[in-house]
Amino acid sequence: MKIPSAIWTLLIGIVLTLVSIWYGQNHGLLPTAASDEAPLVDELFNAMMTVSTGIFLIVECVLIYSVIKYRRRAGDNEDGLPIEGNVPLEILWTAIPAIIVLGISIYSFDVYTNIGGFDPHGGHGSPMMEESMTMPGTAMAATLDHRSGNTATPVQFSEQQKTSPPQLTVDVTGLQYAWLFTYPETGVTTGELHLPIGKTVEINMTANDVIHAFWIPEFRIKQDAIPGRQTNLRFTPRKAGDYELICAELCGPYHGAMKTQVVVETQEAFDQWMQEQLVASKDTPNQAVAMNPLDITSDEFLSPYTKEMGINSEILHQIK
Ligand code: CUA
Repeated sequence: MKIPSAIWTLLIGIVLTLVSIWYGQNHGLLPTAASDEAPLVDELFNAMMTVSTGIFLIVECVLIYSVIKYRRRAGDNEDGLPIEGNVPLEILWTAIPAIIVLGISIYSFDVYTNIGGFDPHGGHGSPMMEESMTMPGTAMAATLDHRSGNTATPVQFSEQQKTSPPQLTVDVTGLQYAWLFTYPETGVTTGELHLPIGKTVEINMTANDVIHAFWIPEFRIKQDAIPGRQTNLRFTPRKAGDYELICAELCGPYHGAMKTQVVVETQEAFDQWMQEQLVASKDTPNQAVAMNPLDITSDEFLSPYTKEMGINSEILHQIK
C-alpha cells in the first residue's frame, strides 16, 4: 500500500511540532530564574526556541534528504534540470518568516513594557503601561504562548506593584573596573550588592568613565550605565542565593574582571548586614570603600591578572 504524500507531510508536521515544543521547554540553557521578571523573559525565550527548533529541523531535514536523494549516480554526466524558480513558493517562504518575526517582536515588546521597559520608575501610571495591557501584542503573545504549549503561569504584575514606589533604592556607579553600591537611606557604600527577598528594588545607575552594563543573568536584566546620565532598572529578587553581577559592555582591557557578588537574603539577614556596614563605616570612614580597588594603584589592582597573562609591571608601565 502506498501512503499518499499529504499524509506523510501531515505526519512529519506533527512530529516536528511535538519535537519543537518539547525542546522549547527542555533546552536547559537558562540559569536559575531568581527574580519576578525572569519567568516572563524565559517564556519569550522558550517561544523563540520552539520556533527556531522547528525551522532548524525543517531546513536540515530537507537538506539532508535532498543531498541523499538527488546525489549524482555513477555514470550520470548530464546537466541538472533548468529550474527557473517558483513565485508562489517564494511568496510563501517570505511571508511565513515575516509573520513569525513580527509576532516575536510584538511579544518581546510586550515583555519589555511588562518588566519596566520605558518606565522603570512606574511612578505615574504611565500611558505606556496601560497601553500594553490592551495592545494587540497581548493577544499575539498569548497565541505564541499557546503554540509553545506553555503551561507555566507567567507572573502577573498587579497595577499596584507596577505603580507603587520601590521598596528599596540603590544607587549604582560603574567605573573601570568595579561596581559601587550606595544605599541612600543609610548612606552605606559597598562593593557587593545585598538585596532582601521579595522587595521591589529600583537601581539608579551611572558611570564615572566609560559605558558599562549592569547584568545579572539570573534576574534576566541588563542595563547600560552611562557617564553623565542616569539609567534605571526595577526588579524584584525572588530566590535567596549568591549571584554574579557582570559588566556586559566592553569597557577596557580588564572588562572581564569587572564582576561582583549579588546576595539575595531574608529581610533579617539584610538588616543585620546593613547594621554591620554602618558600624564598619563609623569605625573607619573609608572601610566600605576600601574593599574596592579605588584606593590602590592600578598596578596593585592589575597584578593578579598580569601574572596570569605573563606580563610584569614594567611592561605595564611601558604600555602606559
Ligand atoms: Cu565595565 Cu566592562
